Amino acid sequence: TKTLKVALLGAGNVGSQVARILLDDADTLAARTGARLELAGIAVRNVDAPREVELPRELYTTDASALVRGADIVIELMGGLEPARTLILEAIEHGATVVTGNKALLAVDGPALYEKADAAGVQLSYEAAVAGAIPILRPITDSLAGDKITRVMGIVNGTTNFILDAMDSTGAEFSDALAEATRLGYAEADPTADIEGHDAAAKGAILASLAFHTRFALEDVHCEGITGVTAGDIASAKEAGYVIKLLAIAEKIQKTDDAGLPTSGVSVRVHPTLIPREHPLGAVRGAFNAVFVEAENAGELMFYGAGAGGSPTASAIMGDVVSAARRLVLGGPGRTDSTIEVLPVLPIKAVATRY
Ligand code: HSE
Repeated sequence: TKTLKVALLGAGNVGSQVARILLDDADTLAARTGARLELAGIAVRNVDAPREVELPRELYTTDASALVRGADIVIELMGGLEPARTLILEAIEHGATVVTGNKALLAVDGPALYEKADAAGVQLSYEAAVAGAIPILRPITDSLAGDKITRVMGIVNGTTNFILDAMDSTGAEFSDALAEATRLGYAEADPTADIEGHDAAAKGAILASLAFHTRFALEDVHCEGITGVTAGDIASAKEAGYVIKLLAIAEKIQKTDDAGLPTSGVSVRVHPTLIPREHPLGAVRGAFNAVFVEAENAGELMFYGAGAGGSPTASAIMGDVVSAARRLVLGGPGRTDSTIEVLPVLPIKAVATRY
């Protein structure tokens, strides 16, 4: 059997679970891909830092660049913009397949990275970047490739869903629910990216780009977080039969331009939204995520599951790794979505905050 060398960049929550799966499930992975997936090394900042998952010490290295140059598949789980971006570019130049969960980097630099990967004929996949364990990017790009998606609405940030759900079920004010989310370890020490909607906006840009075969960056996404939602807002919504959810919405809309002519485009936005309590998205409790997709022929679909956490996110990473390994074994082409349409981003003013 063929051996494929896998470089892992980062040994945090998700990285250490990916390493565990690569080592523990090596035989299963070999049977499923037709290749031995050899964990060549794990790039970290500090080899001796304490870690939750015990892994052979000789796997750790601080020379990420050398690791990348010797790899067939590079899994980037460092997060943040640099050095992740430089290492991914090095991997692409070197012809290695890249799997990443780095939504922040993709939201800012995705279009440039996809183009580089396409030009080099290498695959760049990122199922784990949106809604953790939930298979959502491949269903959008592959399973629904013969359909036309009209709208995507996602609860794609677990921290804010936990906070809004706690406010809804206990009547708590935002600050108390946030304190509880922090105490339980959902919210980060600095929860700004979650509560201001930036994390959801990064995921919204990725969802919109794939659903509408175009390229949206973070700056195209109108973004409003949940810091202004009060216990009173939640109570009034409840009385009227609604629940307030922070949604990332991407939808095709028609509006009339200044000359009175109809123009169609895509609205991409994140904001607190009123959802009927009986809507499938209304039933998403706690820190769970869900993505509701509407397509012309398929109708309504919903994808639900854990949006964060070590093992759940590692599941999505491994799905990409197995699919990349299968392609390397068969010698198929890289990314094949060359159907880029240029659609205008339409402003939020024209569209609903209630569904
Ligand atoms: N902070 C994110 C969340 C983690 O709360 O959903 C997953 O991207």
